[in-house]
This record gives sequence, structure tokens and C-alpha cells, in this order.
Amino acid sequence: MEQKKDNIILIGFMGCGKTSVGIKLSYRLKQTFLDMDKQIERKQGRSISDIFASDGELSFRHMETECIKELIADAGNSKQIFSTGGGTPVKEENRELLKKLGMVVYLKVSPDVVYERLKGDTTRPLLQTDNPKARIEELLGARKEAYESAADVIVEVDNKSLEEIVEEIAALFEK
Ligand code: S3P
Repeated sequence: MEQKKDNIILIGFMGCGKTSVGIKLSYRLKQTFLDMDKQIERKQGRSISDIFASDGELSFRHMETECIKELIADAGNSKQIFSTGGGTPVKEENRELLKKLGMVVYLKVSPDVVYERLKGDTTRPLLQTDNPKARIEELLGARKEAYESAADVIVEVDNKSLEEIVEEIAALFEK
């Protein structure tokens, strides 16, 4: 499978820092950054919460796959950094497409850190339950293998600053 090796794809659970890392890394490596969730919201003209509420999760998953296909088709020779949605790598088709789009970096986070960062958040439809902590543990457990098999590189993010994470990734890609 042909891979656009210079692109970097950030994957990982909600709250692992994909967007913050992506933005900072893009300055550090002088590459453009695109957040797939935001791209879908722009194209749809509505928020992810609205998409989940009116069309359901399955439709959103379809939009994610279409989004990656479009990015593969549009990717020229310039190096880019992409962040995915937390559930993007769950579909096998998406894992294959992501590998085609670039080098996949998995930001591995623990359920406790996710809970601390996202308690009170209202923008993640999957966490709007009576017991978000249990939901995070359950979802992370169910997705563990998908994240690991999608990854070219695994970066642990617990107890590291944003700068440390960015430097760790930059060191892997600087020539
Ligand atoms: C989701 C994660 C979200 C967003 C949607 C579904 C998931 O992205 O794509 O709410 O299934 O884990 P973030 O990981 O950027 O929060």
C-alpha cells in the first residue's frame, strides 16, 4: 500500500490532546494542521452533537470515512498533520485509510486523565451519560486493540506536558 509518509496522523481517545498537540506540532515542524472533526463540521454546517442527535452515530462514522478518503485524494506533496476523532480508528477500513494518509501516531492516555480533563464537557455525545467515568473505561477498553493496531508509533501522554509530547513526536519526524 502506498503511504504518504511525510504526513502525520494523530489518533487516540477523546481528551488525549490530539488537537492541542496537532496545533503545536504544526508550528514546531512548519506543517499545516487539519482537524478532521472540524472539517466534518465545516462541510456539514453543524456540530458533531447535532450530527449525532439528528443522523446518529453510524452516519457520523460514514462521514469520517468519506473525510479521510477526500484527504487522501487531496493530499499533494506538502507535509501535513491531521487529527482524527477519537472513534475514527475503530473501523478497520479507516485504519487502512489512515495508514495510507501518513504515519499514524497514537497518543495513549489513561481513563483517569481523560475523566479529569473532560468532566463537565458537553460537546462529546458519547460521554453524555450518568456515569461518564464508567463509559470512558468501557470505551477505552473496547478500543485499545484498534488504536494499537492502527498505530505506527505509540506516545504515552499521561504526566507529560504539551511541550514534552510535541518534542517527542518532532524528534521522530525531523530529519
Ligand atoms: C468521538 C470523539 C470525538 C468526535 C465524536 C466521537 C469518539 O472526537 O469525533 O464526538 O467516538 O470517541 P475527539 O476525540 O476529538 O473528542
